[in-house]
Amino acid sequence: MTTLELFRNTALNTPEPIGPRAVVMRGYALPYVDDLLSAIADIVSHAPFRNMVTPGGFTMSVALTNCGALGWTTDRKGYRYTSIDPDTGGPWPAMPDVFAALASEAAAAAGFRNFKPDACLINRYLPGARLSLHQDRNERDFNAPIVSVSLGMSATFLFGGHVRSDKTAKIPLHHGDIAVWGEVDRMRYHGVMPLKDEPHPLLSNQRINFTFRKAG
Ligand code: SIN
Ligand code: FE2
Repeated sequence: MTTLELFRNTALNTPEPIGPRAVVMRGYALPYVDDLLSAIADIVSHAPFRNMVTPGGFTMSVALTNCGALGWTTDRKGYRYTSIDPDTGGPWPAMPDVFAALASEAAAAAGFRNFKPDACLINRYLPGARLSLHQDRNERDFNAPIVSVSLGMSATFLFGGHVRSDKTAKIPLHHGDIAVWGEVDRMRYHGVMPLKDEPHPLLSNQRINFTFRKAG
């Protein structure tokens, strides 16, 4: 852990509210980083990162993969969750225990009890990659929160309102930070600004974000 990370982890470890039922927990994932990264390497060896196509015909700048019973996918036909990886034809890799444990622990720390995700979308951002404003609305259960873990390069997370044109707050997300949003904040528009090329000591020019959801 660098001094900066240690400072964030200890001095700022009270959840930072970004909405009535939304928080950022600085450095919350830092103690798990080694385990998370080896689990991700294993997942990616079975279900590689790929740049999917949106229904509108655009190739996403963010590359993605999934683990868990269900995985989020997109193609010309639409956005949806599938139990099969369309690239490999097999199931998505199982959700590693360290993922499931961290997700429910972080959700509980943010005030959401008994969170048992069945889907984990893993996004990889290289410099310049961005995610335009969207709502997470392909899940069947909007009662469960979204738990978002960030590793590697820092990003600016945009957290808006319930209408796309609502003003967005700009929230920096650094290596090890976890954001959680649910209940009244569950359907808020959010996105990620184009990533700056500021390499991270551990992950070089990548940002990896993974979001846990109750999708089925
Ligand atoms: C997402 O909205 O699925 C990802 C958000 C992020 O990369 O921080
Ligand atoms: Fe999202």
